[in-house]
Formats: sequence, C-alpha cells, structure tokens
Amino acid sequence: MAETHPVPVITIDGPSGSGKGTISRLIARQLGYHFLDSGALYRLLALAAGRRGVALDDEAGLVRLSKELDIRFPAETEGDLVLLDDQDVTDQIRTEAAGGGASRVAVLPAVREALLKRQRAFRTEPGLVADGRDMGTVVFPDANAKIFLTASAEERARRRCNQLKENGIDLDYEDVLADIQARDERDSSRSVAPLKPAEDAELIDTTGLDIAATIERVHDFIKNRLNP
Ligand code: DC
Repeated sequence: MAETHPVPVITIDGPSGSGKGTISRLIARQLGYHFLDSGALYRLLALAAGRRGVALDDEAGLVRLSKELDIRFPAETEGDLVLLDDQDVTDQIRTEAAGGGASRVAVLPAVREALLKRQRAFRTEPGLVADGRDMGTVVFPDANAKIFLTASAEERARRRCNQLKENGIDLDYEDVLADIQARDERDSSRSVAPLKPAEDAELIDTTGLDIAATIERVHDFIKNRLNP
C-alpha cells in the first residue's frame, strides 16, 4: 500500500465557468489552507513564452522555460496576486489571449509533465485546495477529497457574459457559447490528462445553484473526508 501523505489536499476540477475558481478560493480561505490555481501556471507559461519569443508549439523550449520561470503566488494573498519575475501579472494572465495560449501549451505532454513537480510542491501544511482540470486524476490522485464541478454550457456562457459585462465588455451570447463548446471539446478530447472526473470524485452540477448553495454541498462532502 502506498504511504499516506501527511498533508491533506482537496481537488476541485471542472470546466471553466463551472464556478470552481470562486468556490476553491472560498473553501481554501475557510479551511485556512493554501490554494493552487493550476490554470494560472499554464497561463503564466503562455505569457512568458510570448515575452521570451518561445513559440507556443515549441515543446522543448516550453519545457525549458517552465523550469526557469520565477513564479510566485504570495502566500498572504492566496492566488489573488500572481508574480512573474517579481512583476505583477495578475490581470495579464486573465486575458482571453493568455487563456487561448494556455489551452495550446496545455495539450503538450512534456509541458504537463514538467509542471507536475511544481504543482505538487504547493502541498504544504496545513493543507491545500487545488483547482484545475486534472488535479484529482493526475496531479493528486491520492487526494483526501475530490470534487468535480459542472454546469451546462448555456449556464457557463451566461455567467461568462455577465462577468465580462461587469468589466465593460459586451460579447454576443451565441459567440461565447460557441467558444465554450469548442474549448470543452479540446480540453476533453486531448490525449494527455483530458478533462474528466476522477472515478472517486463527487460530481456537483452547479446549474441553478448559487455560490452559497454550492459551498454548502462542497462542505457537506469534504467534512467527512477530512475528519473520518
Ligand atoms: O482554468 P483556466 O481557464 O485558467 O485554464 C486555462 C487553460 O489551461 C485551459 O484551457 C485548460 C488548461 N489547464 C489544464 O489543461 N490543466 C489544468 N490543471 C489547468 C488548466
């Protein structure tokens, strides 16, 4: 039997728009755990590649870059602040361009392998909440609690439109929906670490659930896992 890791980890996976970013941050804060936004690592890599002239399909170049990157999520902000080479890139990694770049570098097996160690290094006392696509399946298969959040593509498109509107950006709902469906297809059909729930993950459909109701469902599930 594999030895049990002394530091607890909760994985929250799912497609973008399922609410996993918001929910993971809140759960981490409530438990006093660290927080890993694994998507931010892929976004940072795409951003750094653009800056250093590494092509987004240059697998070997991206692997080298991923090893040198000076990335920091200052502990006191737990994911709200992201530094690359000591520079605040929090807003830059959230752009559509960085998201598109992240999705391209994320299909490269050697890149995913190179980022594994960096992701596992976030598992430190008193515990970790890890948010992503393959946290429960690949990065932390021995997690204490695994959650997979979903929501219909239509609901996720509505949430995305509302979020963009708050930032003064008006996009056509049908375009956003088509974009989400295309990204779902790419993320779930890639050969390495496709987006799919771990066999032992708890599936929570957040369509029609607000944040408070979702948090309650997550808490109900994890409390028994952390203190059996
Ligand atoms: O969650 P996000 O939108 O920040 O993720 C950006 C991209 O990175 C997304 O296209 C999927 C990819 N990604 C991944 O392949 N594996 C992860 N653990 C996290 C993100």
